[in-house]
Amino acid sequence: MKHILTIAGSDSCAGAGIQADLKTISALGAYGLSVITAVTAQNTRGVTGVQEIKPEIIRAQLEAVFADVRVDAVKIGMLGSSATIQVVAAFLRDLMADKLQDVPVNYETGRLPLVLDPVMVAKSGDRLLEDEAVNSLINDLLPMAMVLTPNLPEAQTLLGSTIKDPAEMAEAGKKLVEMGPKWVVVKGGHLPGEPIDLVVGPDEVYELPGRRVAGHNNHGTGCTYSSAIATYLALGHPVSEAIRKAKGYVEASLVNGFSIGHGVGVLDHFTGVRSAMK
Ligand SMILES: Nc1ncnc2c1ncn2[C@@H]1O[C@H](COP(=O)(O)OP(=O)(O)OP(=O)(O)O)[C@@H](O)[C@H]1O
Ligand SMILES: [Mg+2]
Repeated sequence: MKHILTIAGSDSCAGAGIQADLKTISALGAYGLSVITAVTAQNTRGVTGVQEIKPEIIRAQLEAVFADVRVDAVKIGMLGSSATIQVVAAFLRDLMADKLQDVPVNYETGRLPLVLDPVMVAKSGDRLLEDEAVNSLINDLLPMAMVLTPNLPEAQTLLGSTIKDPAEMAEAGKKLVEMGPKWVVVKGGHLPGEPIDLVVGPDEVYELPGRRVAGHNNHGTGCTYSSAIATYLALGHPVSEAIRKAKGYVEASLVNGFSIGHGVGVLDHFTGVRSAMK
């Protein structure tokens, strides 16, 4: 059994955040561990409150997990503030310096399989990262990421420039790779038309086509995508294959998405599992 750690925020309506990550990891056949960075009060209509977890408790959660359990891949989602970014980055630096555990190293990239989803704004439009924390994200975490998965607005914020079409997404992806991550997936869900993602790796730039699933049951697509990539990496897939399979999983979960409240509905993370059990 592979063990995937998600470092992210809690979503009380469980469509995104830690809850979406754990469902994704479980549905794909691995075991999910969670380090909670913030608790959000949230429903399908929006975010109504955020309580950050104290840095020492975040560090304690990380130490507890790594002191006992082998971790095969890590996904990072909502961090919220520079204090949280710094405690997570410092812990991962210690980890890689081999002080805490023999970390698994991905054979293709020579790095810990670490998928960084640079969460900044919820689908509802609520901000999930302090403005002044963007520089910490760039300086402290981007250089450690194996795969970075910004959506269009996040790529624009990280680069300070606008992105309007696939050609500009490719340029943005190349510039982001120069900032440290080995691979960057610029997600095209926010552009009109089919949701084409732009993938940039050490030796490749390509478009990953997708089919747009109509409707509003799409809360948590970003969290689901990044934790699926981390899980497929831990299961041993090459990076490009892990990204492709994760996109297929998001699409399949969107197809059977459903409404649970009065706003944006959620994905059906267990579509495949349920049909396999019949
Ligand atoms: N309606 C859709 N149909 C099919 N695929 C989609 C749709 N919307 C997004 N995707 C895909 O889902 C993945 C996640 O991308 P998205 O752009 O939604 O991330 P995000 O903006 O970070 O999401 P979130 O708001 O949940 O954080 C990408 O592969 C994207 O192309
Ligand atoms: Mg997102």
